[in-house]
Amino acid sequence: MSREAPVLAIDQGTTSTRAIVFAADTSILGQAQQEFPQYFPHAGWVEHDAEEIWESTLATVRGALSQARLQAGQLPALGITNQRETVVVWDRRDGKPIHKAIVWQDRRTAGLCQELKEAGQEARFTASTGLLLDPYFSATKVAWLLDEVEGAREAAEAGHLAFGTIDSFLIWRLTGGRQHLTDATNAARTLLFDIHRQAWDAELLDMLRIPAVMLPEVRDCADDFGTCDPALFGAAIPIRGVAGDQQAATVGQACFETGMMKSTYGTGCFALINTGERAVASTHRLLTTVAYRLDGKTTYALEGSIFVAGAAVQWLRDGLGIIERASDSSALAETADPEQQVVMVPAFVGLGAPHWDAEARGAIFGLTRGCGPKEFALAALESVAFQTRDLIEAVRADGALDKDLVLRVDGGMTASDWTLQRLADILGAPVDRPTVLETTALGAAWLAGHAAGVWPDKAAFAATWKLDRRFEPQMAPDLRERRLALWQDAVRRTLTTR
Ligand code: G3P
Repeated sequence: MSREAPVLAIDQGTTSTRAIVFAADTSILGQAQQEFPQYFPHAGWVEHDAEEIWESTLATVRGALSQARLQAGQLPALGITNQRETVVVWDRRDGKPIHKAIVWQDRRTAGLCQELKEAGQEARFTASTGLLLDPYFSATKVAWLLDEVEGAREAAEAGHLAFGTIDSFLIWRLTGGRQHLTDATNAARTLLFDIHRQAWDAELLDMLRIPAVMLPEVRDCADDFGTCDPALFGAAIPIRGVAGDQQAATVGQACFETGMMKSTYGTGCFALINTGERAVASTHRLLTTVAYRLDGKTTYALEGSIFVAGAAVQWLRDGLGIIERASDSSALAETADPEQQVVMVPAFVGLGAPHWDAEARGAIFGLTRGCGPKEFALAALESVAFQTRDLIEAVRADGALDKDLVLRVDGGMTASDWTLQRLADILGAPVDRPTVLETTALGAAWLAGHAAGVWPDKAAFAATWKLDRRFEPQMAPDLRERRLALWQDAVRRTLTTR
């Protein structure tokens, strides 16, 4: 296979599935995208149907191949990247999920997390996994399924049930049930994986009564994950790269050096800073996680996770109905009355880093008779900038940022110049947007292409990263300080843990 061979990436996200075929020069040869339904059976619960995710995966892979005018046999490898933490439990005997997938945003296990915290267990979980006791992560969701789905515990103990994050489930299905695998970045989000020893933590499994036999085997991000059943796409494409979407974006943004940081604006916003071989323990409520594992060598990251970024814009569109398309939000915000002081805390599913308040709910402050859709749009977009700033302050306080910050950004919201200008203004630091905005998929493609030996090494890949535009801060510092004070006050009033 030539070094010019194209590589396919499957990007299985929270609201849609995408498949993209990249040429070796990282240009896009073909792509397809499909949204799938979101289920909200109770307040604070969020579910997906894993069968619908699977159908959307098949459809988008076929669509991308056909747009690229390629046959499956021409691809040396495919990579998978995925929404992280979301839990699927399926029966190995027929491959069928035993329940809807419980999505990372789901808060149903807040009570169990609270009980474990009150029992003094949080430090034990953090020491091993780098995470906190929050319903965001997979473990308590698996425990819930074993407790609540009839017959699940017995079937799991008998070895019939398999647990996986979305990557594992797709690998299982793509390989016709032959492989039950995951990669180190996805494993690192389960709250069950010891990121220092790079092994499942038997004590934590015991504490949550999760049988180890349910778990996938953990591999490097660029590795052999089996081959697709030829009946699916007409040829057996090897699966050679896997990473959680935020880690794949870190790779796609070529943040390979210690101190490099990226922030991705999708449904949520996730900022990761590469900390090299050192797993930095945060004292400011950030997560310690695996950035990537290549050739058995783990590179760590500190992560700040915000649950609602693009989802706030979706709410303007679907909840309030004040815009038709998400992309209309910045044009509306731009025309907002600068005299108004509206601040939105988008705690629709609680607050993530650095507050970790699962019970907090969204709030809006500073309304006057002069406020309307424009001020709501401004407040929604600005909340994303404020939250990013809070994360960066925490990174600084943890001592992980030893040079001047330059933030590499990607994700749907970064198409908006206005949003990125406001982000730079609120951060008081430059924000870099690359020419390739599909960095998540590109990262997965690079991992797969690298494993297959058809794509260049890290340094050569990093050299292909190109700046589209740098946004420099322009806001007067005193105005920034006033806006920040309003935000901090709004957050204080929203927290239930204050
Ligand atoms: O941790 C959740 C994250 O992986 C979801 O990413 O792109 O859907 O916001 P996204």
